[in-house]
Amino acid sequence: MSAEPPPIVELRDVHLAFGETKVLTGVNLRVTDRARLTVLGQSGSGKSTLLRLVLGILRPTAGTVFFKGRDVTKMSRRRLNRIRQKIGMVYQYSALISSLNVRDNLALPLEELTRMTPAEIDLKVDEKLEMVGMSEVREKMPSELSGGMRKRIGLARGIIMDPELILYDEPGAGLDPVITSVIDELIVSLSEKIGATSIIVTHEMGSAFRIATRMAMLYRGEIIAEETPEDFKNSGNPVVAQFISGDTKGPILEHTASA
Ligand SMILES: Nc1ncnc2c1ncn2[C@@H]1O[C@H](COP(=O)(O)OP(=O)(O)OP(=O)(O)O)[C@@H](O)[C@H]1O
Ligand SMILES: [Mg+2]
Repeated sequence: MSAEPPPIVELRDVHLAFGETKVLTGVNLRVTDRARLTVLGQSGSGKSTLLRLVLGILRPTAGTVFFKGRDVTKMSRRRLNRIRQKIGMVYQYSALISSLNVRDNLALPLEELTRMTPAEIDLKVDEKLEMVGMSEVREKMPSELSGGMRKRIGLARGIIMDPELILYDEPGAGLDPVITSVIDELIVSLSEKIGATSIIVTHEMGSAFRIATRMAMLYRGEIIAEETPEDFKNSGNPVVAQFISGDTKGPILEHTASA
């Protein structure tokens, strides 16, 4: 009998401080294979920081970050770069290179990190553009695209290397509610198509419930809840309940006011 495989991502008692500012003070989190975990939390609570720790861009002050059972905090730069090829990142504002057209933006990681031929790269670019429904903008410059289109291209670039793990930072930021729903559905379908595990940071409750198979809440440096959307919705935790309802009365503002 083989042992149960390790989770795709695990954070064990992770602490992170920037100088005097303690952002994370003991985060514990496990993300299992093919889960879509949404991480909710107030602005400044450390959500983007958490993603950067998983990517290995930041190293924790204390504690351990595992990717498929391997400790990324102790890895050499070389090994870390290899691991990062298995992780796709979708940035808040798409982060496309403005001087390159859509095709070249998507091709860049393939040119830099793989030995694929130009013809193979073209095929891969076309495949990903088709997945996000953007085949017709292949030759356009980022400045010629709407925010929603740029976001889709950002998604295509996030999955260009066929990652095992996709990290999304605020995928709905700056989009209208209908386009946000379209992007949410795309996140679900892409994850399923490529069989990836996803961690999605978001403020938007609607998006979180549309996307998630698991939901977590980051509050005052710790993950205070990690459960199914159903349990999250009915949470007895006053912080979670207040975050869901958007109520101004509750522990969240009381803490902020006294901080
Ligand atoms: N490189 C850095 N140097 C110093 N402080 C930083 C750095 N990056 C983040 N911080 C601080 O860490 C805290 C958490 O930042 P982070 O960007 O992770 O928050 P967030 O939850 O993503 O917020 P938002 O929802 O507004 O994007 C903030 O207080 C921020 O000022
Ligand atoms: Mg952020």
